Amino acid sequence: MDFQAVKAALSSSPAFVIDEADIVECLQVLSQLRAQSGCKVLYSVKALPLSYVLETVKPYVDGFSVSSLFEARLANEILAGAGSLHLTTPGIRADEIDELGNLCSHISFNSLSQHQRYVDQIQAQTSIGLRVNPKLSFLEDDRFNPCGQYSKLGADITTVKPYLAEVQGIHVHNVFSATDVFSLIKTMDKVEHELGDSLADLGWINLGGGYLFNQIADLGPMIERIIRLKNDFAVDVYIEPGKALVGHAGHLVSTIIDSFVSDGKTIAILDTSINHNPEVFEYQRQPECHEHDSNGQHAVILAGCTCLAGDVFGEYRFAKSLNIGDKIVFKNVGAYSLIKANRFNGYNLPDIVVFKDSQLHSIKHYSYQDYRQQWLAAD
Ligand SMILES: Cc1ncc(COP(=O)(O)O)c(C=O)c1O
Repeated sequence: MDFQAVKAALSSSPAFVIDEADIVECLQVLSQLRAQSGCKVLYSVKALPLSYVLETVKPYVDGFSVSSLFEARLANEILAGAGSLHLTTPGIRADEIDELGNLCSHISFNSLSQHQRYVDQIQAQTSIGLRVNPKLSFLEDDRFNPCGQYSKLGADITTVKPYLAEVQGIHVHNVFSATDVFSLIKTMDKVEHELGDSLADLGWINLGGGYLFNQIADLGPMIERIIRLKNDFAVDVYIEPGKALVGHAGHLVSTIIDSFVSDGKTIAILDTSINHNPEVFEYQRQPECHEHDSNGQHAVILAGCTCLAGDVFGEYRFAKSLNIGDKIVFKNVGAYSLIKANRFNGYNLPDIVVFKDSQLHSIKHYSYQDYRQQWLAAD
């Protein structure tokens, strides 16, 4: 995507710009993986549940994966019967289980206790699975490590074997933004070692998300492993990427609305905030800035427009000094930004714009009415 051209052509700010070609490129990588390994691909809706994305992805995938009733309803509406719908969540509620069972083709219970509580309410058309925690960590930061100590995600792999006869599948998700398949191979080694031949009694294995497929140089070992799993145990194998599909395809474009010096450093205030990309604050992560030049002479702290002192994207360097009205792009923030975004301080959400065939198409604008509707008490 030509960021200069996009910045010049944008008529509103801030804007969340989605590059359709990027999504399609990743879908092609996944289609190849699917053709070579025989796995089935689901899009994990949680990364960006925008209907435009779901419609774009739908022809290339075998279905969607979801984590709640609302995601399941939306995904079901878009799928309209043309694909499977898989759910796993610690949050299944007694008052939602019947509808979840009607909407989802596959439900992987998050714990043995959740399984026991709800399994009898699920009709025969839904395939029952169990999320298994392989107790194999590849991440040091437990904020996004599903296998940390005291994990709430999945039943301990060392305890589940006697229960596998009661389910048709297992779900394993234990990585975060992995850029190689090393963790998948290690995980499958452990799953096979712990569960052995009982895997052959299952109908499917869902390997979860967390792999950035378009950044993995060699998918060969993963393809081989999936083929082996299918041959050895006669199971369907699913993967459910989210961030891989949309992470690189979404960019937040904003405008500098003020600039001043504070304790000797230049601060530029933007018309966006970390509330449009909350992982900046949650994980204290500095997003990639398109205009940043590591050799640039001008250091500037890019800060959000809200009252929170920590609403700061970080310090960047620029080849020339920045001016009020200049546009700044935070790149590769397509996943988990908009879905976590909020209107703190009453600042509007960004417009959503799709870049397709060298043209911008505005697909969503939020107004004061949306804010008002959220906060006005019902009559
Ligand atoms: C169970 C499950 N599946 C899939 C995903 C999607 O992961 P990602 O967006 O990293 O590919 C997640 C992310 O948290 C998850 O928890």
